[in-house]
Amino acid sequence: MMLTEAFAERRCTIEAYFDRTALEAWKRLTSDAPVGRIRATVRAGRDRMRGLLLGWLPVDLRGARVLDAGCGTGSFSFELARRGAEVIGVDVSASLIDIARSRRPSDIAARPVEFRCGDMLDPSLGRFDFVVAMDSLIHYETRDAIAALALLGARTESQILTTVAPRTPILAAMHTIGRVFPRGNRAPAIVPADIRKLQRRIQAEPALAGWRLGPNERVMSGFYMSHALSLVRG
Ligand SMILES: C[S@@+](CC[C@H](N)C(=O)[O-])C[C@H]1O[C@@H](n2cnc3c(N)ncnc32)[C@H](O)[C@@H]1O
Repeated sequence: MMLTEAFAERRCTIEAYFDRTALEAWKRLTSDAPVGRIRATVRAGRDRMRGLLLGWLPVDLRGARVLDAGCGTGSFSFELARRGAEVIGVDVSASLIDIARSRRPSDIAARPVEFRCGDMLDPSLGRFDFVVAMDSLIHYETRDAIAALALLGARTESQILTTVAPRTPILAAMHTIGRVFPRGNRAPAIVPADIRKLQRRIQAEPALAGWRLGPNERVMSGFYMSHALSLVRG
């Protein structure tokens, strides 16, 4: 399966949104600074999601090369580095990459974390043992999200962790209210997916033939709702 033209168009919209429109709000949401009640539920949900995905990865990642695909301000990359991984964090937003670089905690100063601005699908990033794409494929059409997983899969040895927005009436209502993302009226649309159908499509995708579905779990926390999926080689 190949990416459609919509992928590049959507990536441009996403870049404009995270790089400029919602930069300050996203910077704040991903920091310890106080946020409003609704954003606090989103922050708590995102923390839970990060914890869930980390729980599916080996505790000891020494010797492993890991891609944080759509790393944003870098929180996941730092956790991976704490486990000893060699981490590449890539994001299409140059401003978020600048923030990630500036936030490197002192306890991982000497660890190999490299932040790069660009497309997570750029083959020049090389090969990986693990790929994590937390909430970074949720804005793409399902077809393109699966094609992206297949492209990442071709460069990954062990495991791919990702998240999708589940198609539920509650999430649809939240999208209508427009509070799921900062400056919701200008945010790129989230593409909700029927999780079972998506799982069937992943299993049927020839380019993902070497992969099987691992654990999956939904995280719901106020205005945050996201469904984690894992793909395991073999
Ligand atoms: C909702 S944020 C999540 C950021 C980070 N994964 C986290 O959980 O904090 C989605 C991120 O994915 C990035 N992104 C989306 N499509 C991308 C692409 N094709 N290549 C690189 N980054 C991408 C966006 O710029 C944005 O920073």
